[in-house]
Amino acid sequence: MPSVLDPDLRRALAERVRYCREMGIYDFYRRESRFSDPTVGAEVGELASTSQEQREEMAARKSAQVAKTADKNILQVLTSHPEQSVADPVAALKLIREDLGDCTRCKLHKQGRKQIVFGVGNPRAELMFVGEGPGADEDTQGEPFVGRAGQLLNNMIKAMGIRREDVYIANIVKCRPPGNRTPERDECETCSPFLMRQIAAVKPKVIVALGAVAAKNLLAINAPMSELRGRFYDFIPSGPNGDSSWPGTKLAVTYHPAFLLRDPRQKGEAWKDLQMVMNYLGLRPPKKDE
Ligand code: URA
Repeated sequence: MPSVLDPDLRRALAERVRYCREMGIYDFYRRESRFSDPTVGAEVGELASTSQEQREEMAARKSAQVAKTADKNILQVLTSHPEQSVADPVAALKLIREDLGDCTRCKLHKQGRKQIVFGVGNPRAELMFVGEGPGADEDTQGEPFVGRAGQLLNNMIKAMGIRREDVYIANIVKCRPPGNRTPERDECETCSPFLMRQIAAVKPKVIVALGAVAAKNLLAINAPMSELRGRFYDFIPSGPNGDSSWPGTKLAVTYHPAFLLRDPRQKGEAWKDLQMVMNYLGLRPPKKDE
């Protein structure tokens, strides 16, 4: 059975999906077909020797098979993203950024954000850091982690023997919450599909979740930092990632740099988390004169 959808229908569906996404609707569910019998084997020749009743049943099974194939295709159209057809992460990230547009999907867009802070860094990074959400400096400059917490993150990256340009940095939400409050659940849920797509495009070997908000949102676990840190999690971004050969990534949790600025005694613990990541990636700290 060919699994090709009529191009006009495909276009119409793609339009419909785009419209739904603009309305903030991302998830589509398939209602099970009335015809659940997977055994559809009747050939035309068989029809001649069968009763009218049997023929009707066979015809119904055949159309159920056609409906199933169309269903599958429709589902693919409904759940696929434009970047899935490109292998180049630079192009993929560009498509995701375009799809995000001048986002108004959650209330943060009307609560004083200056601009969307999409993400920055090497599109082919082996290491990705995910924070909570932009603060005032990030909102002004349009880049994550450029304020005081960003300076500390830069130092942490340097201590790992790499440069900020080598990694990819993003946040759970892409717009500054007013007064730097913690992003709310609906805001995280609306924004995180775009982060998932960024992760699927970059395909890092390790993600470091900075702080409890990032960790809890990525892992969907509600636990204190003391329980979340100190180990790797297997992580596959939710939603279609289009590359079945990619096994996903490891995820580690450490303290948010803003927390470390408030409580520098915890820096040693954060360094242990980073060393675990360095061991996995085969990184070594720079020598004194490097
Ligand atoms: N804190 C975050 O979580 N993200 C930023 O980009 C800056 C500060």
